[in-house]
Amino acid sequence: MSSDFRKFLRKEEQRKFERLEKDAETYKIMERVFDTSTLLVLYRMMNRGTIDLFQGVVSTGKEAHVYRALDPEGRYVAVKIYRVATSDFKNMYRYLACDPRFKGVHKERRHVVHAWTSREFKNLQRAYEAGVSVPRALDHEKNVLVMEFIGEGGVPYPRMKDIPPENPKKVFENLVENISLLYKEANLVHSDLSEYNVLLTPDPVLIDFSLAIDTASPMTEEFLIRDLRNLTNYFRRLGVKVPNVGELLEEVKGERA
Ligand SMILES: Nc1ncnc2c1ncn2[C@@H]1O[C@H](COP(=O)(O)OP(=O)(O)OP(=O)(O)O)[C@@H](O)[C@H]1O
Ligand SMILES: [Mg+2]
Repeated sequence: MSSDFRKFLRKEEQRKFERLEKDAETYKIMERVFDTSTLLVLYRMMNRGTIDLFQGVVSTGKEAHVYRALDPEGRYVAVKIYRVATSDFKNMYRYLACDPRFKGVHKERRHVVHAWTSREFKNLQRAYEAGVSVPRALDHEKNVLVMEFIGEGGVPYPRMKDIPPENPKKVFENLVENISLLYKEANLVHSDLSEYNVLLTPDPVLIDFSLAIDTASPMTEEFLIRDLRNLTNYFRRLGVKVPNVGELLEEVKGERA
C-alpha cells in the first residue's frame, strides 16, 4: 500500500469515524477487530452506500462483534464483524466441510472466516426470501456482514432470554411456524436456536444464522430436535402447555396433513 493511499485512508477513517463513541471499551474492542483489511472493507462499504456513519458497539461475542451504523438514508443497520485473528476457525472449518455449498473451502484461517461470514449471509437471504422472520441481509464482504437493524433508535430489541414474552403461547406458536417455514421453504435448520437468538419486537425475529445447515445435511434431524427441545424447555418454564418434541418435529416437517 503506498504511503499516500495510507494517508488518504487514515483521513477517511478519521472523518467517518469521528462521531464514534470514544469510551475506552470501544477503542479496546476496535483495536482487536479493526485490522487494516476490515477497515478497508468498511471503507468500501461506505463507498458503495451500504453504510454511511459507523457508530458504537452493540454486542461483543466469542466469534463476532455487532455494531450499529447508519445507512445514507439515516436508517440503522447492524454490522456483524467476525474476528479473524482470534476466532475458532478450526471449529468453523469442521462445520463448513459438511456444507455442500462450501466444499472446497481452503483450510486457512482467513478463508475459513470469510466463508463463515458468507454462509451466514446466504442463510439469512434464503430465510428472508422464504418469508421467515429474520433481519434482511444487505451486504457482505470478507469478515463483515451488514443486515437490517432489529431495534429502535439504534438499540436492539431485547433477546427473549432478557425479557420473556408477554404472550408466551402466541410467541411459541409464531416460532414453530417460522421454524417450519425455514425447514420447508428455505430448506434450512437454524441449529443454534434458543432464547439467546430470538429478538422480540414483540413478535419474534430469529437471528444468528452462522450455524444454520441445509436440510440435505445428514445432521439435520439431530439439530432440528435440539432447536425444538431448547424452545419447548424455555416455554414450558413459562407455563405454556407445549407438545412433546416428537409431535412438534412432525408438525415442523409437515408430515401431518
Ligand atoms: N440484525 C440485528 N439488529 C439488531 N441487533 C442485532 C442484530 N443482530 C445481532 N444483534 C445484536 O447482537 C447480539 C449478538 O448477535 P448474534 O447472536 O448474531 O451474534 P453472536 O451470538 O455474538 O455471534 P456468534 O454466535 O455468531 O459468534 C444479539 O443478541 C443482538 O443484541
Ligand atoms: Mg447469538
